Amino acid sequence: MVLTETSTNPLGMPVVGFGTYQLNSEQAESCVAQALSAGYRHIDSAAGYNNEAGTGRAIRSSGMDRNQIFITTKLFPGYQQWGAPEKNYQQTIDALKQQLSDLQLDYVDLYLIHAPLSELRLEQWQGLMELQKLGLTRHIGVSNYNEDKILEIQNAGLAKPAANQIEFHPLCTRVPLSGFMQRESIVPIAYSSLAPLATWRMEAGQGGEVMAEIKVEAQRLISEIAANLNVSAAKVLLRWGLQHGYSVLTKSSNPDRIRANRELFDFHIPASAMQRLDELNQDQALAWAANGINPMEVS
Ligand SMILES: NC(=O)c1ccc[n+]([C@@H]2O[C@H](COP(=O)([O-])OP(=O)(O)OC[C@H]3O[C@@H](n4cnc5c(N)ncnc54)[C@H](OP(=O)(O)O)[C@@H]3O)[C@@H](O)[C@H]2O)c1
Repeated sequence: MVLTETSTNPLGMPVVGFGTYQLNSEQAESCVAQALSAGYRHIDSAAGYNNEAGTGRAIRSSGMDRNQIFITTKLFPGYQQWGAPEKNYQQTIDALKQQLSDLQLDYVDLYLIHAPLSELRLEQWQGLMELQKLGLTRHIGVSNYNEDKILEIQNAGLAKPAANQIEFHPLCTRVPLSGFMQRESIVPIAYSSLAPLATWRMEAGQGGEVMAEIKVEAQRLISEIAANLNVSAAKVLLRWGLQHGYSVLTKSSNPDRIRANRELFDFHIPASAMQRLDELNQDQALAWAANGINPMEVS
């Protein structure tokens, strides 16, 4: 399939989205505004990012028709080990209503359980099903769910998640889970595509230093491929995700990078280079390391 700037996945989601993690509300407002003017029509948010109000202001002041922008947000499910109360069915419903108020929206396009951190996750999923019925979200899905956690939903006779947003980059390719999702027609969405780069989350406490040595090796190959294709290393990583059939999310607080990270449709990574990148796989998740957990392995 030929990928273009207007390509969407089966949910109608533009295949490149702008991520808003690690932006405060004011930064989210200015970065989302820049992203929308750079042409992004897919914004990824979450209650846990504490910046939905800023994202909402940017969307509102863009003046764009609501139906031109695909908006995802996520339920913060609660997590006992962090002392964060777990949400029950009704609290799940109330959570999206509050998020919609912060976002100044009547509905989102996709609502996800951020991670399977709560023992109440099936109840939370039933809450999402109700929210979809109420028209407050067009689609419902999950994030950081492994095959067992998805099967838990299916085995309970509940609606299948439409999408699963997971960490996905050459150091973390999760081949069996990707295959399972493909067989089940669960739309894959990649986050932290740029994790192998030295520039990824550089500030203290953001976790950018995790697996630093392995990253140096990966960066050599990524830079070699980028030089051959005459594009940046960031573009190689984002395009790699797209060529694997994932939709990708990219966050930047830098206006030039915001613009450049969406320009992924004028080059193609040859199969041989894709394979060399795939061989970097360590099945190692990095994105939540700064929080001290791997959300996919919480029991
Ligand atoms: N569901 C989940 O559990 C989950 C977890 C993590 C992320 N996400 C979502 O996925 C989005 C993306 O993941 P992420 O936040 O880890 O970010 P990412 O897009 O993979 O990487 C962002 C980092 O890379 C840097 N960067 C951006 N563009 C660059 C470029 N062209 N060249 C070099 N460095 C560049 C950024 O710095 P500057 O800002 O300085 O450019 C930032 O430090 C998030 O914002 C969030 O929406 C979801």
